[in-house]
Amino acid sequence: MFRSGAGRVQISQEQIAARIQALGQEIKRDYEGQEPHLVCVLNGAFIFMADLVRAIDLPLTLDFLAVSSYGNAEKTSGEVELIKDLRLPIAGRQVLIVEDIVDTGITLNYLLRLLEARQPASLRVAALLSKPSRRQIEVPIHYLGFEIEDAFVYGYGLDRAQRDRNLPFITSQA
Ligand code: XMP
Ligand code: MG
Repeated sequence: MFRSGAGRVQISQEQIAARIQALGQEIKRDYEGQEPHLVCVLNGAFIFMADLVRAIDLPLTLDFLAVSSYGNAEKTSGEVELIKDLRLPIAGRQVLIVEDIVDTGITLNYLLRLLEARQPASLRVAALLSKPSRRQIEVPIHYLGFEIEDAFVYGYGLDRAQRDRNLPFITSQA
């Protein structure tokens, strides 16, 4: 079973689902009459993205990019590398970045600058998790799932050395 052998569960499948429904409704309200363009930050945000878009009852478009800031280490190297760029132009679009977790803020700061330069009509951020105590650069998070303390977490798209992305809940190492 998924649950045996895993560490302590911090955020359950049910808690995640309920929070994402609420975020979806908030986003629908804010973007009513518009067609937001959601940008998923691979790999960690792929499951959050899949659930979030289905919770937003609006016409929308989406795209993916990939960055690497960690390699296989659990500590940030401070360097962000764009591994896969967007397929679609974002100029004039209402862009919403979808991130798994904001830690130091270095990755999100890089992405905000990268995408802002392409002149979207608006640029906002949805993040499933945030560790505010770790922040090195202040970055805006308009739609936040959960604030967590400083522990390395995995599951629900987030990896532990590339594994455990398929856990349906979020947990921290014991
Ligand atoms: P920064 O420090 O740039 O980090 O805000 C953001 C990226 O780092 C990864 N990250 C984690 N990944 N468990 C993970 O699986 C964690 O606890 C964790 N903390 C940071 C993540 O890829 C995020 O996009
Ligand atoms: Mg990761």
